[in-house]
Amino acid sequence: MNKFSRIGFILAAAGSAVGLGNVWKFPYITGEYGGGAFVIMYLLAIIFIGLGVFIAESLMGQHAEANVSTSFVKMSKSGNPKWKYAGFMILSGLIILSFYSVVLGWILNYVISSFSTLPTETSQAGATFTNLTKDIGTQLFYHTLIAGTVVFIVLKGIKDGIEKINLILMPLLAMILFGLLIYSISLDSFSKAMSFMFIPDWSKINSSALLAALGQAFFTLSLATGVILTYSASLPKNANFIKTSISVAFIDTLVALVSGIIIFTFLFEAGAPSSAGPGLVFISLPVIFSGWGILGQIIAISFFIALVFAGITSAVSMIEPSLMFFIERFKMTRKKATIITGTTFYLFGIIALLSMSDSWGATLTFFGKNAFDWMDFITSSILMPLAAIVTCVFIGFYVDKKLLENKFTQHTSLLVFNIWYTLVKYIVPVAVTILFINKLGLI
Ligand code: TRP
Repeated sequence: MNKFSRIGFILAAAGSAVGLGNVWKFPYITGEYGGGAFVIMYLLAIIFIGLGVFIAESLMGQHAEANVSTSFVKMSKSGNPKWKYAGFMILSGLIILSFYSVVLGWILNYVISSFSTLPTETSQAGATFTNLTKDIGTQLFYHTLIAGTVVFIVLKGIKDGIEKINLILMPLLAMILFGLLIYSISLDSFSKAMSFMFIPDWSKINSSALLAALGQAFFTLSLATGVILTYSASLPKNANFIKTSISVAFIDTLVALVSGIIIFTFLFEAGAPSSAGPGLVFISLPVIFSGWGILGQIIAISFFIALVFAGITSAVSMIEPSLMFFIERFKMTRKKATIITGTTFYLFGIIALLSMSDSWGATLTFFGKNAFDWMDFITSSILMPLAAIVTCVFIGFYVDKKLLENKFTQHTSLLVFNIWYTLVKYIVPVAVTILFINKLGLI
């Protein structure tokens, strides 16, 4: 059977978790919510909510050794075949991949253009970015390149494709980030960035910051889409799934924090605002880099390459739950399943990029949101919270408690099991339900 090695699993799951969510989104939302206090909320959300669900998914995958849909049926006390509908969550990966591939295309475009020139002013950088998001031809070119790469890697399978690419790209990513970190430590603003990130100003915390931290914890750990469950189906049977989960959450958090430190040091060094939102990486940073001459150019190229590497290892994970489902449920070959899922996300990606252009924008805007934003909304505000709730309620009420307890006590104490069980059964579903209601704009 085509399984990961233990370390291969940790790298692949960390590769999935570490993505644009860490290097792009975490710093900009930390900036928007004012730093330290948000970081603490985020860390708590990772430890008490994210990690609990991560372990739950990993346990299910390792035990059932099947696709998401079959795993739910196999794990349920009653064996009720209706649990197969929990497999709906694999859709999220494909939808996210559609627009994630477009965004990765932007970044690849930034790598290439950083070789020639960088924008010297914010207005110029802003215009460059806006033009790119409206430029059908360029986006189509890069989206095709990224989608092709993802399909190529995934076609080769778990061991020769996914494990191998992570084995190469994750250490490279770590090296680039380490280099950038060393450089930022040498700058005067490093200590200012550290205080911004680690000294909490509690007045900045409100319920929306808390919910943003919770949502980010789910997204960054690739939860509630079947990715972790599916990867765990290829985790060696005797591997300690609790330890591997903690390792992945640790690596993921470390990368988010290091990215934040690097980016805030750069921003403060240039006297730029920390609350620029999504444009932080695409608009603020290039302007800063341009002021640093040739060194800035090298940093820009390394930084955007790091983002591409982080993103590619996430992208290959998003497709795997659908692949495994198609392969097992419809007895398809990996090749056929890859072609079907690959074509699907590629076409949806085209719809996403067209929906931002002037010529197609109006046609592809529904109820005030363009197709790109809809894909983000449907996944992060509807499918993922629902999937998280379904998973936790399932574990808490529909799986034999003894079975879970046995799986845990092979590796750890009963106390740890009880804490985890209480978290997953009661705390997480309540927290996510509040997040869900909030996302839908009901509170
Ligand atoms: N975790 C990745 C990030 O932080 C994104 C990601 C990869 C993801 N696979 C996923 C998000 C599956 C949700 C579901 O960028």
